[in-house]
Amino acid sequence: MGNSFGSRADNFMQPAQTNNSDASRDQNQSNNDSLAVWEAAYLRFETPAQEIQKFETRLKKLGAEDWPRDIEIVELFCGRGNGLRALHNLGFTHLEGVDLSSRLIGEYQGPARCQVADCRKLPFENECKDMLIVQGGLHHLPTLPQDLEQTFAEMKRVLRKTGQVLFVEPWLTPFLKIVHAVCENSLARRVSPKLDALATMIENERTTYEQWLSQPQIISDIARIYFTPTHESFEWGKWNFVGIPR
Ligand SMILES: C[S@@+](CC[C@H](N)C(=O)[O-])C[C@H]1O[C@@H](n2cnc3c(N)ncnc32)[C@H](O)[C@@H]1O
Repeated sequence: MGNSFGSRADNFMQPAQTNNSDASRDQNQSNNDSLAVWEAAYLRFETPAQEIQKFETRLKKLGAEDWPRDIEIVELFCGRGNGLRALHNLGFTHLEGVDLSSRLIGEYQGPARCQVADCRKLPFENECKDMLIVQGGLHHLPTLPQDLEQTFAEMKRVLRKTGQVLFVEPWLTPFLKIVHAVCENSLARRVSPKLDALATMIENERTTYEQWLSQPQIISDIARIYFTPTHESFEWGKWNFVGIPR
């Protein structure tokens, strides 16, 4: 990815800290502005119907049709909850969501119980869930590898021994490199509102996104400390991982 994306995303996705200094207030304001811009771009990137359809197709491809419909599933980093709506459409009946953004969770309408919480400290008992799903959330963690280890440790803690994890995250495949190159083309952005929304999201999550894409081996190694993969694939700029707890 080139350097033309603006860099306004230090500590992106972190709640503003209480601190009285002017510099710190300015930084918090800048983080909050960046968050608002990112969330607005995320909401216009795909319509809910498009996103739900994408999630249904993806979940089926990763084996969801074989899962018992009454298992306890939590979608972590669930955003506005379209992953939960896809799971509901596929017939799953015990659904919960967790996300740091009350604004995005507020967009969700459906039967799942959603909580505003930090996925680095999950609000669940030990070994009480059957399936933990993350779709595009891990790459928002501010400090790698520590936050990833903490999140995976929490996931393993709340997962039953018979449970599974599924995550889908960006991966720097040749396809994603092409997408990045096109995102830097201002004409392409003017012609395609979807591309412009994607480029805006990348601009406003640049710090964590680049940190994530630049450490594939470390990420893959940490995943394997906590989970044994039962399926792993890399396609269309995504890492698809399904695993069981070690
Ligand atoms: C790219 S969005 C993905 C949302 C959803 N999974 C989807 O695919 O539509 C990333 C989400 O992660 C959330 N997030 C970032 N850091 C988080 C954390 N530490 N704990 C919980 N949620 C977090 C953000 O609020 C945002 O909704």
